[in-house]
Amino acid sequence: MVKILHALSLTTFVFHLSFTLAISTGRRVPTPPLPILPLPTYSQLKWQQREIIMFLHFGVNTFTGYERGTGHEDPAIFDPVGLDANQWVSAAVDAGISLMILTAKHHDGFCLWPSKYTDHSVKSSRWKGGKGDVVREFVDAAKARGVDAGLYLSPWDRHEPRYGHNLEYNEYYLAQLQELLTKYGSLREIWFDGFKNSSALNVTYYFTEWFSMVKELQSSINIFSDAGPDVRWVGNEDGAAGTTCWATINRTSLSIGNASIEGYLNVGDPRGTDYLPAECDVSIRTGWFWHKSQSPKKLSELLQIYYNSVGRNCVLLLNVPPNATGLLPETDVHRLKELRNALNTIFSVNLAEKCSMKASSQRGGKGGGFGPENVLDGDHLWTYWAPGDEDDGEDPWIEVRVADGGIRFNVVRIQEAVGLGQRIKRHEIYVNGKRIAKGTTVGHKRLHRLKGGVVQGSVVRIRISESKGLPLISSIGLHFDPFWQPKDGS
Ligand SMILES: *[C@@H]1O[C@H](CO)[C@@H](O)[C@H](O)[C@H]1NC(C)=O
Ligand SMILES: *[C@@H]1O[C@H](CO)[C@@H](O)[C@H](O)[C@H]1NC(C)=O
Ligand SMILES: *[C@@H]1O[C@H](CO)[C@@H](O)[C@H](O)[C@H]1NC(C)=O
Ligand SMILES: *[C@@H]1O[C@H](CO)[C@@H](O)[C@H](O)[C@H]1NC(C)=O
Ligand SMILES: *[C@@H]1O[C@H](CO)[C@@H](O)[C@H](O)[C@H]1NC(C)=O
Repeated sequence: MVKILHALSLTTFVFHLSFTLAISTGRRVPTPPLPILPLPTYSQLKWQQREIIMFLHFGVNTFTGYERGTGHEDPAIFDPVGLDANQWVSAAVDAGISLMILTAKHHDGFCLWPSKYTDHSVKSSRWKGGKGDVVREFVDAAKARGVDAGLYLSPWDRHEPRYGHNLEYNEYYLAQLQELLTKYGSLREIWFDGFKNSSALNVTYYFTEWFSMVKELQSSINIFSDAGPDVRWVGNEDGAAGTTCWATINRTSLSIGNASIEGYLNVGDPRGTDYLPAECDVSIRTGWFWHKSQSPKKLSELLQIYYNSVGRNCVLLLNVPPNATGLLPETDVHRLKELRNALNTIFSVNLAEKCSMKASSQRGGKGGGFGPENVLDGDHLWTYWAPGDEDDGEDPWIEVRVADGGIRFNVVRIQEAVGLGQRIKRHEIYVNGKRIAKGTTVGHKRLHRLKGGVVQGSVVRIRISESKGLPLISSIGLHFDPFWQPKDGS
């Protein structure tokens, strides 16, 4: 208590001091620049900072070996005798993952919770004598460890007889959505998969009604679909965004389950009127569901996926499927830990941290609050370097300077203050005057893993050659990635 009072009075004192100084010199405190629309919502900003989300594909396919069930599976086969959702959550926590999304129902129509609208569910399985509820165990285990939960509910349903009748099926789907959104506490993401087989029955999904109902029941949830409204698909299942990737796009050009928009989804749109960042879904294994014969991807592949997704302004949705016992395989858990350790090794040290910063100019002049030193603090959102308006003609730049010897690095990290809108269109990186990398968009995070390998230098300059309005950079990092061995000539 005493400490808090001290801190308060110190803050008050500093506030008075700066206020008095500002008054006495007659100087106006420089304000933040105007945002450039469209802006992220609070929920989208929080979502983007998670960086990695875990996906869990689990259901009857886990027991049949199929990737897409037919809908004719006998629910009795679902019997994960050793199911322990705490083990799933521990694996996520150890991997630094704060949100997990479970397939409550996949295309085969089997429900992992005892829905009152169908018997094609855990109710008719052998597991726990039909008294179990996987969704309940999942959300409770997540909550106990402070991890957020999300759910996937497949629109395409190969079991339900109402599928093929628009009104009846949409009512059925909405009824299940309401069960999931009212009985399992607060959820952070709901996943609408636009996929259905081209030979599937023709059903028109009433997305407008579905999405309105979701927001009515849970206002801070993010809705994922090909077309948002909060999070968009990245257009492939390889975990790779375009090297140019805007969080902005025109929702009016998007529709759900439309293959012709995959390229547009992958890169976004610099003139887009909607803020709709992309999520890169990929499985740690070949399949989405667990199959005995498959094994997890190598660490080097997972790192490549991280650079191609998180490092390109997206969130990585990494699928780790529980096996037929109801546990995440030890091999996969181990690989996740390796991934977290590798990311910590690379990114917990910022080699630029002790360096001095210089910039072409700064908003409001020295001491105005928008200096280049802001890119080295712990805030990657609301403190940033902003150039002044007086840079006319010259491209704004920001420089890391090392006093002696120089530093060795092979990764450059750049982050924009996206809370004021994504802006940077083109940028270049120079070491001791020589260009070593260039790129287009930055957004929440842009990672350049240098193609030429390790460089050593004492002056690292990032030049912003094109942006929408003033570029605002919230963080810069120079890192050493010991796992990166570029092949000669690549
Ligand atoms: C689509 O359905 C047809 C017939 O049911 C099947 O032969 C085909 O493999 C399915 N394709 C996909 C991509 O599921
Ligand atoms: C599917 O149904 C919608 C309306 O319910 C109709 O407009 C559309 O033409 C149908 N598509 C096919 C391929 O039959
Ligand atoms: C698919 O998207 C394209 C491009 O926006 C659009 O012209 C086309 O009408 C869409 N098709 C469907 C079936 O929505
Ligand atoms: C997106 O919308 C903006 C504003 O209406 C427009 O200028 C731009 O051309 C659109 N993009 C595409 C790909 O149509
Ligand atoms: C599932 O994974 C756990 C943990 O590695 C293992 O003990 C169990 O044998 C596995 N079950 C199957 C069916 O492979």
